[in-house]
Amino acid sequence: MKIGILTSGGDCPGLNAVIRGFAKYIYENVPKTEIIGISDGYGGLITGEAKPLKESDFSGILNVGGTILGTSRQPFKMMTVEEQNGQSRLDQMKKNYKKLGLDLLVTLGGAGTHKTAALLASEGLNVIGLPKTIDNDIFGTEVTFGFHSAVDIATECIDRIHTTAASHGRTMLIEIMGNKVGWLTLYSGIAGGADIVLIPEIPFDPNEVVKTIRHRIDQGKSFNIIAIAEGAMTKDESKMKKSERLESRGGEATCTKKLASYIAENADVETRIVVPGHLQRGGNPSPYDRLLSTEMGSFAGKLVQDGNFGTTVAMKNNQISYNNLQAIAGKTKYVPEDHQMIEVAKSIGITFGDGVKFKGLR
Ligand code: F6P
Repeated sequence: MKIGILTSGGDCPGLNAVIRGFAKYIYENVPKTEIIGISDGYGGLITGEAKPLKESDFSGILNVGGTILGTSRQPFKMMTVEEQNGQSRLDQMKKNYKKLGLDLLVTLGGAGTHKTAALLASEGLNVIGLPKTIDNDIFGTEVTFGFHSAVDIATECIDRIHTTAASHGRTMLIEIMGNKVGWLTLYSGIAGGADIVLIPEIPFDPNEVVKTIRHRIDQGKSFNIIAIAEGAMTKDESKMKKSERLESRGGEATCTKKLASYIAENADVETRIVVPGHLQRGGNPSPYDRLLSTEMGSFAGKLVQDGNFGTTVAMKNNQISYNNLQAIAGKTKYVPEDHQMIEVAKSIGITFGDGVKFKGLR
């Protein structure tokens, strides 16, 4: 059997650990299998850039960040658009799958990658997906690999900001990655001891944020930590189209700058913004992610052994399992407004800028 493997979309810690777990399972349990590394995500499948990998290529990469295969973003909406040569990217991928003699394609990626994987499966290719992303937003799985490493990094950023915030008596806004969902901000915000957590799923009122800060000042608190997701938005902005939001922020992709100025003016505090950015995707996977990646990678090997294609690995009820690609593609796992961690946060006085009070723990 010939298996093509690729990593697509933004990188994250754990990709190499999954590749290794998968390959080692295959070499141990599925004899006479060749693994072909496809370069730079779907980009390599579109151009046919791929090379056979040796067993030794999978050694020494468990704790290495990034991806040995390279990655790229290939927007799903472009896949079926006819290009100058009269062929779509989908046509080219199908052609190269055949040309490379593949029996199966294994795709490690996020929500967009899964949409393309489902499309390829619906076109008759054998595909197995693996859920990667620091955003933790893939539908049908409780956790994605890369998420917990990013939580560790973002938490350390918040920890480090605490000392400066305290020394200077400042209000610090830490912009955490996640342009659609707030999992990373919620988890690192709580783990890092933020006072205010702002996530896309809970549009906020800037006056409520100011109210919280004033209240803290009245209580004698000298500084404030705000964990704000890239995709956080005000209640007013939540009614706007993306382009209108951009305009209302003076061309800024996020609302962090505008909010920092608003707070400085209305709460009479000194504000600073910190954007850890791609640091959150860099470096070694945490031990948790190494375990999860190994578990997910080896389970993908089992799916190969069982001939269970058109599927993607998932964690359900804390057990490794899988979903059908068609059932999850195109869906997003948002933070539910009644999520227990939101109530946990509120129970210890963290506010979300929406003015909604603590309802109680389940
Ligand atoms: O999807 C992962 C993610 O890191 C998001 O949290 C972030 O908004 C985006 O990717 C950044 O993408 P890029 O690396 O293409 O700038």
